[in-house]
Amino acid sequence: MYFDEANKYFDMVKDKEDKIILAVESSCDETACAILKGKEIKANIIASQIEIHKRFGGVVPEIASRNHIMAIQNCIDQALAEANMTLDDIDIFAVTYGAGLLGALLVGVSYIKALAFALNKPLMAVNHIKGHIAVNYVANLELKPPYICLIASGGHTAIAHIRDYEDIEIVGTTQDDACGEAFDKVARVLGLEYPGGPQIQKLAKGGKASIEIPTPYKDVDTYDFSFSGIKTAVINYVHKMEQKGEEINRQDLAYSFQDKVTSIMVNNTIRCALDKGINKVVIAGGVGSNEMLREKMEKASKKHKIDVFYPPIKLCTDNAVMIASEAYHSILAGKRPVDIDLDANANLKITD
Ligand code: KG4
Ligand code: ZN
Repeated sequence: MYFDEANKYFDMVKDKEDKIILAVESSCDETACAILKGKEIKANIIASQIEIHKRFGGVVPEIASRNHIMAIQNCIDQALAEANMTLDDIDIFAVTYGAGLLGALLVGVSYIKALAFALNKPLMAVNHIKGHIAVNYVANLELKPPYICLIASGGHTAIAHIRDYEDIEIVGTTQDDACGEAFDKVARVLGLEYPGGPQIQKLAKGGKASIEIPTPYKDVDTYDFSFSGIKTAVINYVHKMEQKGEEINRQDLAYSFQDKVTSIMVNNTIRCALDKGINKVVIAGGVGSNEMLREKMEKASKKHKIDVFYPPIKLCTDNAVMIASEAYHSILAGKRPVDIDLDANANLKITD
């Protein structure tokens, strides 16, 4: 009964350009709710748990789930207030169903299923990583596929050929750690707080690339990545210096690490765009906020006459605008709502 009603409603609103989508994101340590009217952001609420997890040096899954439960109602209320709307104004609901921490995902999924069911409105299931990509369409209204996308987040690092909104081919991927994971682990070695990316960026200011870090896949023709060797090189360097009783230049170490990781990501992305003859590159994911990465991508793109797009910092790290945007663009590509038996999938692949 619910599904029939929701589908009928979906068919009524799906082609409306200014349809109103309310999205929820709860895959990791941010509880977020956003409302899009067409491609216009009407609300973007993010309740971050970073302060709670900082003292543990990383996200504790059970604590994350419990805090999502406490924050979610308030996030939705705040988003509706910011948009000056009520639940009756919402045409379509959307939620992240993977990838991420299972218990955390289940909070958002269960909550939004209850809302959609109670209001007989359609529900779109959204892939978190596709959300990181799709947020670029609301941040850069002129952007359309095809393009080459560097996906650089805490859980994923990949290069994707985005042929169309829902036609994604992964052409390179990390063989071990994700780049954000490497930033976070190296930050820990340097005694910096979680999340490590922004802390390394801060520490690296004024530093220089004086410490040698190996380049993986140096002479191999691949778009793949490997960050664990780089991370280990930093750890070994720190241990060696400690054993010798020598002082570590932490600024230079942070700079050398950041410089290596960002160069590799930019080189692979630009090489891929040139090989495929595509003159548009896009950056997606939390590590996409990194200033050095953006500067290097801008510089390399200019040299090769490639256009480069990325979201503003607030939309790079986890948020729900990205989930609403992916829902919107997947509908354009013909995707339909899900039924009330939607389950969370911690290991969802980028192309699922
Ligand atoms: O995309 P995201 O918000 O969450 C996932 O989907 O994983 O990415 C989080 C990651 C963390 O590893 C964090 O350290 C990193 O993004 N990050 C950064 C910066 N801001 C966040 N890494 C480098 N430089 C930054 N400015
Ligand atoms: Zn994310």
